[in-house]
Amino acid sequence: MHVRDAVASRFSCRAFLPTPIPEQTVRDIVETAARARSAGNMQPWRIDVIAGERVEALKALLRPRMGELPRGEGAEYTIYPPEMNATFRKRRFEVGELLYKSIGVPREDKPARYRQYARNFEFFGAPVGLFFSIDRDLGVAQHSDLGGLIQTVMLLARGHGLHSCAQQAWAFWHVTVPAFLELPPHMMLYCGMALGHADETAAINGWRSPRAPLADYATFSGFTA
Ligand SMILES: Cc1cc2nc3c(=O)[nH]c(=O)nc-3n(C[C@H](O)[C@H](O)[C@H](O)COP(=O)(O)O)c2cc1C
Repeated sequence: MHVRDAVASRFSCRAFLPTPIPEQTVRDIVETAARARSAGNMQPWRIDVIAGERVEALKALLRPRMGELPRGEGAEYTIYPPEMNATFRKRRFEVGELLYKSIGVPREDKPARYRQYARNFEFFGAPVGLFFSIDRDLGVAQHSDLGGLIQTVMLLARGHGLHSCAQQAWAFWHVTVPAFLELPPHMMLYCGMALGHADETAAINGWRSPRAPLADYATFSGFTA
């Protein structure tokens, strides 16, 4: 697959087939993804991958606690700043509306919205879950490096015909999940990721998030060709 097609065909997949993924495939993705750049080559990341019984065990651990949503244990870091400008607010609102519209859930139906949100904690049916963590002492630059790694994993997944969804929702279980993964105490859980084959028939996978036009976020100057 051309890298452009990998980028263009990636989307946040929120319904997966249960088809198992061979361990070797995921190992290849994770090992190759570590070719991602990082400032000073610090490679400031940790990835924990679970499948099969481990996925089921984590789901079973959280299932009885879904009543604690949406807060869960609260996120350890600020996901959305409390004050966002109108542009960011509009984009966030818009993507939420598109998502819930795709499954016929109206804005006022809060229980149905929570039920969909809770699907995060089943990895949307994916057979593989990944968790990305970073040393708590590190800062903005290294968080950006972690973002590069996460995107690289997602693009490599496309190369294997797989889809993915990054899931910050897991950060709301920042006590339970690190304990389950036996993360060293200095590591902070940044996000999870669902990985598997997309359910192409699912309505929730049948829409694409919009993007701002090029002129809104980039300038070009000095070109002669
Ligand atoms: C770090 C990160 C965390 C995310 N967390 C969630 C999540 O918890 N649940 C979810 O459904 N989508 C999550 N998303 C997906 C975003 O909503 C999605 O990337 C965005 O709306 C753009 O859509 P696209 O990925 O389909 O292009 C996350 C994305 C990123 C990059």
